[in-house]
Amino acid sequence: MGVKIAVLREQAEGERRVSATPETVKKFIGLGAELAVEAGAGATASIADQAYADAGATVADRASVLADADIILGVQGPEPASIASAKSGAWLAAGLNPFGERARVDAYAAAGIEALAMEFMPRITRAQSMDILSSQSNLSGYKAVLDAAGEYGRAFPMMMTAAGTVSAARVFIMGVGVAGLQAIATARRLGAQVSATDVRSATKEQILSLGAKPIFVESVKGIEGEGSGGYATEMSEEYQKAQAELVSSHIAKQDIVITTALIPGRPAPRLISDAQIASMRSGSVIVDLAVESGGNVEGAVAGEVIERHGVKIVGHRNVPSRLAADTSALFARNLFNFLSAFWDKDKGAPVLDAEIGDAIRLTQGGKVVNPRLLT
Ligand code: NAI
Repeated sequence: MGVKIAVLREQAEGERRVSATPETVKKFIGLGAELAVEAGAGATASIADQAYADAGATVADRASVLADADIILGVQGPEPASIASAKSGAWLAAGLNPFGERARVDAYAAAGIEALAMEFMPRITRAQSMDILSSQSNLSGYKAVLDAAGEYGRAFPMMMTAAGTVSAARVFIMGVGVAGLQAIATARRLGAQVSATDVRSATKEQILSLGAKPIFVESVKGIEGEGSGGYATEMSEEYQKAQAELVSSHIAKQDIVITTALIPGRPAPRLISDAQIASMRSGSVIVDLAVESGGNVEGAVAGEVIERHGVKIVGHRNVPSRLAADTSALFARNLFNFLSAFWDKDKGAPVLDAEIGDAIRLTQGGKVVNPRLLT
């Protein structure tokens, strides 16, 4: 018998994704693994139990799925008590939110689970296809634009009609990482006039290449803004002040603003103040994709669409879950690409190397071992 891989039904509120699809089930079976999927796991991502069964998986309740599982897959980290029957030494590969769910990490360690946090995947070329942050952010960026369009009482494209002209929406994207780039592309496809900003000066070229206008702070110390692994660093006070001034004059002329700025391991930077919201014209829409990490927008509320000064502020939680069928397909492939890259044919099981294994492994041998959690 090959290794047994268990696919859990997500239990977190509002989580609609699933960590394996019939496609990845088939591929794992092709490697010699045995797959057990918890009944109902794919329901909210439009995948029926029968589709998993047709792909070759066993579909069963949680206890049977966990029994003897060598590898447990999830989108989010499960409640430790809900996997108490898992055997010691089993791997748990999922988006574990290690900083936000530290108590869970400790509980996984105590239970002898080897927890692998997929969001700690290093940003190296060979790991790109394993990176859940990228795959999920990409679709979040797209959905943010559609969410904005849905709340906006006007059209995005310029339209010439017999009754007169409808002018194009002005869309401003703040934070041009994976989500921001997709938001630019999506807003452009809808016919908006798009501008964008970031603290990493390397993004200027990318903004231009997508046909949008870069809005950048010039001639202030330390504008490179790039820390390790292509992530942003926190900026100097001087920079923040210059950025706020530039953004203030620009924002007042925008119809839609989408913010995506994150700094790993820290609260999201505050990019839009209440006074700036008040400067926007009535009916404008702001989407805060960082709302669950503290928010880029003053007053944004996670899980709600609120209105301030006549401006709608959209703060949906778990945006990837709003496109669960596609985000699940990508998430599932990330997990497959990860495990299959390390598949040892003789053992019939994955064996991690140090570069990736040490980066993502949170717990091992009953202890928390990840340096990012030990400092
Ligand atoms: P992220 O989700 O951590 O942050 C989103 C964006 O917000 C970033 O572009 C960041 O620079 C920006 N930001 C932070 N503070 C800001 C502020 N005060 N004002 C304006 N913008 C601010 O970043 P994400 O999307 O994960 O990607 C960052 C970079 O990493 C990209 O260049 C991406 O191409 C690269 N990357 C590389 C991968 C690989 O090689 N395996 C995988 C994924 C991303």
